Amino acid sequence: MLDFLGNLERTHMCGELRAANAGQHVVLMGWVNRRRDHGNLIFLDLRDRSGIAQVVLDKELTPEGHLKGEQVRPEYVVAAVGKVRLRGKDAINPKMPTGEIEIEATELRVLNDTKLAPFSPAEDAIANEEVRLKYRYIDLRRAEMQRNFWLRHEITRSIRESLSNQGFLEIETPILCKSTPEGARDFLVPSRIHAGEFYALPQSPQIFKQILMISGFDRYFQVARCFRDEDQRADRQLEFTQIDLEMSYPRRDHVFGVVEKFCAAAWAAAGITLPTPFPRITYDEAIRQYGSDKPDLRLPGLTDVRSAFPDGSLDTLQIDPALPIVAFRIPAVGELSRKEREDNHPLFDQKKGAKFIDDFKRLAKSFPDTVTKIRELSGAAEGDYLIVVAGDPAHHIKASDTKFEGRLSEREINVYMAAGNFRSELAKKYADRHKAFQLTDELVQTADPRSGNKLDGSNAFHPIWIVDFPMFEYDLASGKWVPAHHPFTAPYEADMANLTTDPASVRADCYDLAMNGLELGSGSIRIHRKDVQQQIFASLGISEDEAKQRFGFFLDALEYGTPPHGGIALGLDRIVMLLAGASSLREVITFPKTAKAIDLMADAPTTVSDQQLRELHLKITQRS
Ligand code: AMO
Repeated sequence: MLDFLGNLERTHMCGELRAANAGQHVVLMGWVNRRRDHGNLIFLDLRDRSGIAQVVLDKELTPEGHLKGEQVRPEYVVAAVGKVRLRGKDAINPKMPTGEIEIEATELRVLNDTKLAPFSPAEDAIANEEVRLKYRYIDLRRAEMQRNFWLRHEITRSIRESLSNQGFLEIETPILCKSTPEGARDFLVPSRIHAGEFYALPQSPQIFKQILMISGFDRYFQVARCFRDEDQRADRQLEFTQIDLEMSYPRRDHVFGVVEKFCAAAWAAAGITLPTPFPRITYDEAIRQYGSDKPDLRLPGLTDVRSAFPDGSLDTLQIDPALPIVAFRIPAVGELSRKEREDNHPLFDQKKGAKFIDDFKRLAKSFPDTVTKIRELSGAAEGDYLIVVAGDPAHHIKASDTKFEGRLSEREINVYMAAGNFRSELAKKYADRHKAFQLTDELVQTADPRSGNKLDGSNAFHPIWIVDFPMFEYDLASGKWVPAHHPFTAPYEADMANLTTDPASVRADCYDLAMNGLELGSGSIRIHRKDVQQQIFASLGISEDEAKQRFGFFLDALEYGTPPHGGIALGLDRIVMLLAGASSLREVITFPKTAKAIDLMADAPTTVSDQQLRELHLKITQRS
């Protein structure tokens, strides 16, 4: 038999009660987390979003409450009325923030019962993620998820505050728009009023934010929902949130300053000090040193070990002499058997035209000095897992050999990337041995925003700006230069003269922010002059007609006194994921889609009625 709430009013949250509240009369409301029946005494752990408090139902004090206590089960919703008292010395639980007190109940109201849930929110996450997502409302009750969304709120709030304090206005831009230029597939929305025509959901507010600069807002930001119809990964969702900003008259240093400030604020909101300014590295150096454009600085990078190989050895070892030879080490992995090493071979990306050496005993038989030198150059210590990666002449993939003055060739990049990818796969696999990632896990677990802890994150979080990206990439298939970024990115002013004569040498004034192997953000100084924009379109092979059709309104706007401007967007979900110590965005998005792009709880996408289709002038020709 359920009780009514009546005029009962909650006085406190469960998790906030402390010894200082002893003697106070309280009314708590929440879910029964656990229940222990000791005969005349029944203990209920009552849970709300702030934590857990222990309620005692004493048969003598409240026979009626005790009777209800016998009937309630985990996840029933109850209200407990009573007095806070100090626990006896032996009953103190130092692991619980409320562990010094309990509530001596005088009344219990059962506000709702529950069906037996498929899993208990009082326990850790169950392994079956599909069940978690189908019953997301129960999964979200778990303490870990509550903490993640508390964290998300604090992070978002601190970023909003930091940007507002830095003179940025929060402005919303449309969700129903025209196709945007980020390069992923658009989600389309059919128009009922205009038969055969579609809106696109924004992949980002890129064009609108630039237009807001033309409109004189000077400094804009938005916590912006973006939609991209692309394949899902742990760090990619169909819909996600950007901290998107744009400013007038900036140089990139100004943009970096703004971002560093709001990142420091976001990390501080999680209780962690993030030192600023962030270091910078050029794109080429990131590739050379880490084999990645989102380098993870928590582990040693790549070392050039070309000098360890005497002339002639490369032929014997079948290594391409024209390509880089690099080594990397994963510290403290310990001796691996041949079988264990071989089990790791599939983690190497075979498609990049590179090969690797992981058997140094064998190499030492023919080239002992080479092995000594590789160890020396890479600083390998006893127990480090050492790998050498080099170009494979036998596996000549289709890639450009063309060496553009001062730039890495595509083939060189491929070898570095093969090394970089292998490095990060092995780093993940042996995380519990090298422990470089553990520091982050420990830190985020202690840094609950509700705990008030202040911790130094300089050893755990490694932000880095990547700068000096090439403006164009050579596309072998089409024989054309294609933009490495979206087509509104400005070239370096100093490189502008080479746009048509020497596109390979043109650097883009764009930048990425990476942290712990994750791309957190990306932005650029934009083209603000119509003549330069036309030149870029021309050099990208985008015809005037096509440009007009896709971005005509924007090109028109550019002609009306556009100030120099630039900006950036950071992935909010990714920031929260890092700070929550989570391994997937799904842990920090309330109702995420699965890898197959399905909302398991709401069952979307779904078919619609014939009537709806008719109204939208649509005919389905094939169903999945
Ligand atoms: P970009 O496309 O690089 O740049 O996106 C910026 C940042 O948004 C996040 N992000 C994602 N997060 C989750 N799921 C996704 N599918 C996803 N795609 C991107 C990443 C990324 O670094 N308009 C430009 C920014 C600019 O130039 O100002 C843009 O959108 O963290």
